[in-house]
Amino acid sequence: PYITTIDRRSDLARGLREKFGLKDFFIVRGDADGNPELQKELSKRMAEELQKMFFNGAVISVAGGSTMANVGNYLKPTEQELLFVPARGGLGEEVGNQANSIASRLAVATGSAHKVLYAPDNVGESVLESLKLEPAVKEVAKLNQASDFVIHGIGEAFTMARRRNVGQDVLEQLEQKGAVGETFGYYFDADGDILRKVKTIGLQLEDLESKQAVFAVAGGSSKKEAVRAYMKIAPKNTLLFIDETIAEYLLNS
Ligand code: G3H
Repeated sequence: PYITTIDRRSDLARGLREKFGLKDFFIVRGDADGNPELQKELSKRMAEELQKMFFNGAVISVAGGSTMANVGNYLKPTEQELLFVPARGGLGEEVGNQANSIASRLAVATGSAHKVLYAPDNVGESVLESLKLEPAVKEVAKLNQASDFVIHGIGEAFTMARRRNVGQDVLEQLEQKGAVGETFGYYFDADGDILRKVKTIGLQLEDLESKQAVFAVAGGSSKKEAVRAYMKIAPKNTLLFIDETIAEYLLNS
């Protein structure tokens, strides 16, 4: 049968581990752009590796996006008690792609528990400040700080900004500043400098360092600049799930 995953002992995988020093790389063959089967394969690989790391009492922070939404299709029921926590309250995405929905799907798939975070990003500063005082919101913020694992997607900056219907002013700012990528509400440029942070409550970039492992996923040549820039932000405990097109670009650029 056609093998979709590139061997971890391959020159490509080894070269990436040496160049970037991250925990590990998982690579599927081909270019996931316009190839939904390959997109699903990436989500599946992520689910398989995540499943191996589960332990009783593990807390998992879950970000949004379409690649993340598929992870639930590949997780299996487990005896271990897990808790899935939405990393963000809502980033203007359709509901199936929001962290709240995905955390609930992953909990159903594994037979475990999840939390919800009702704190949308499209409210004013004062509402956001009041929400932060709510015990249920505080609890989720704390769980995100102390969680064992994070699973998140990486997106191309303008695809994400348009999908979230940001205003023309924001789009222009991102263009002027040279945005290339986005991950759980953070927009960054090619140097990995953060240009804009969606003011939602939840997981913060600085929380990633202390995790046992951070699972990051991205497929498709349209995301290659985004992933290259993310390499400058990625904590050492990252497991990166990418396709071959991105992998080769990371190694050779
Ligand atoms: O934040 C980035 C997104 O999670 C990527 O979304 O998986 O739908 O491309 P996507």
